[in-house]
Amino acid sequence: MCGIVGYWGPNEPKKVILSGLRRLEYRGYDSTGVAIFDQKELKVFRSPGKLVSLEEKIKNNHFSGPAGIGHTRWATHGEPNEKNAHPHKVDSIAIVHNGIIENYVQIRQKLIQEGAKLSSDTDSELVAHLLVKEIKKGSDILKATLNVIPQLHGAYSILVINEKEPDTLLAFKNGTPMLVGLGQKEVVIASDVQAIIEHTNKIVYLEDGEIVLSHKSDAQFFDIKGKKISKDIHEINWTTAMAEKAGFNHFMEKEIYEQPRALGQTMAEHIDHKTKHVVLKNLGLTDAELLNFNRIQLIACGSAWHAALCAKYFLESLAKIPCDIDIASEFRYRSPILEKTTLFVTVSQSGETADTLACLRFAKKAGLKILSICNVQHSSIDREANARIYTNAGPEIGVCSTKAFTAQIVALQLLALHLARVKNTLNGEQISDLVSGLLALPSQVEVCLNHDKWFKDAAQTLAKYKGFLYLGRGALYPIALEGALKLKEITYLHAEGFASGELKHGPIALVDKDMAIIAMCPKDELYEKNISNIEEVRARGGQIIAIGTEADEHLKNLSQYYLAIPKAISMANPILASIPVQLLSYHLACELNRDVDKPRNLAKSVTVE
Ligand code: F6R
Repeated sequence: MCGIVGYWGPNEPKKVILSGLRRLEYRGYDSTGVAIFDQKELKVFRSPGKLVSLEEKIKNNHFSGPAGIGHTRWATHGEPNEKNAHPHKVDSIAIVHNGIIENYVQIRQKLIQEGAKLSSDTDSELVAHLLVKEIKKGSDILKATLNVIPQLHGAYSILVINEKEPDTLLAFKNGTPMLVGLGQKEVVIASDVQAIIEHTNKIVYLEDGEIVLSHKSDAQFFDIKGKKISKDIHEINWTTAMAEKAGFNHFMEKEIYEQPRALGQTMAEHIDHKTKHVVLKNLGLTDAELLNFNRIQLIACGSAWHAALCAKYFLESLAKIPCDIDIASEFRYRSPILEKTTLFVTVSQSGETADTLACLRFAKKAGLKILSICNVQHSSIDREANARIYTNAGPEIGVCSTKAFTAQIVALQLLALHLARVKNTLNGEQISDLVSGLLALPSQVEVCLNHDKWFKDAAQTLAKYKGFLYLGRGALYPIALEGALKLKEITYLHAEGFASGELKHGPIALVDKDMAIIAMCPKDELYEKNISNIEEVRARGGQIIAIGTEADEHLKNLSQYYLAIPKAISMANPILASIPVQLLSYHLACELNRDVDKPRNLAKSVTVE
């Protein structure tokens, strides 16, 4: 979750590191810090709160050295104050850390017994002490690292800078990401590609147990035994412009608006526009292999879990394959029955979510084939999966997932159609009709984006409700859950999502005139049932904000506010209904002056369990 960046090269390290931290701030923003060489001295500056306070603190400092490291923190151990901020410097060593050292209590006790002076409450500082201990015994930094790694349990990416060797950066990892960018006579080491693409698109992905030791711009790689290894260099195609706000007020707003293009890009690679068939060319599973699967297990967290829940409706109805969905943090701990005839599908925007990755490894160990639905190419999940469908939504920076979420749904729908062809549960004509329906999505989403102005104007009135209940049936039920999550995340208002028919089994007690009910009621086979549920809520004074298909006068008459989505195939409705739901959260958050892209307590890319 924390962001890490380190630099050696001809540019001003302070500038490069602060710019990298700005791009990584979405990973955590409780405190920030840098350790940068000034001549031969490593100077450390740290600050609680967001990056701006660190920038202010060091704005007049000039550093004359070639290298430095920086960190933006999402606190796990120890309050987000200055003493717990990274880097942690002990003697000549300064480190930044992302992850959790699970055996930190034992390490801490031992170090205290040995007389170590600890200056923070973090697990991270302990790693610096362990390295210093090894160095005092005569090890160089590489040897010290090789001796420390076996002492650490947990997930971590650690970047080390050493006062005795100002031209050297060292990094190692287990479980959380660490990338090495190899530029022209410069090296950038970071937890995320966003901090590197400004300098180079040539990236080496460090695997668990590997170490990079970079002297000047010469990066060398070692395995856990200290043996030199060669690594592939990947050229990535994301650009810095893709990660800019491009005139929008927030990344979330920009990403909501990017959805027509994101959905188009997700489909473009996988659809034969002539035959209107789904062609998952790079899936990595043959038709024969697909026919061997008699069940699908989907695993994800948060919004990605909602996308997976939504996909169940299509995988089962179109491809007639039983489908189970689990929250990644629950799955491994309920002794699940794993059968090799199950296709194991992970859904993740970042490809780094610790719980999802752990499930992937758990299932892979049991011999299951893993299909990854992922947005970030070469991420840990992408690299470890056997097969893949990319969502191609481009970088998602806003902590609140928007374009990646709708792209996940469409990618899973393409999978359902692909399986339907392989299993012959739909004929060619049926498939091409549905594909044509999906291809209309980008222009239909554009129409939904027109509600933006209405939400902007209505935000002040909507902000007065004491709570928000989201209702949906069928594939719209996961969108009700998603709507409530979006609202909670960035407005901090109370919101819950329910299957419409479930309301009368308890939650309807919450309904009164101060409660807003966002009812998703498109013209589909469940329309009449939805209308009955809306009547039940109305009878108890609930204020209805309805999302329906085109000019639905009946629904309009039942509602305080009515928002139309275009007439579409029913597969498109969950995606179309997501747009007003996202806009509602966005404008309410702006109205309430919330930090939309950096909501409190959250971080993008949850790399701790
Ligand atoms: C909510 C949100 C999170 C993520 C979840 C999984 O807006 O973004 O709930 O969906 O943390 O992240 P990924 O998809 O990166 O695995």
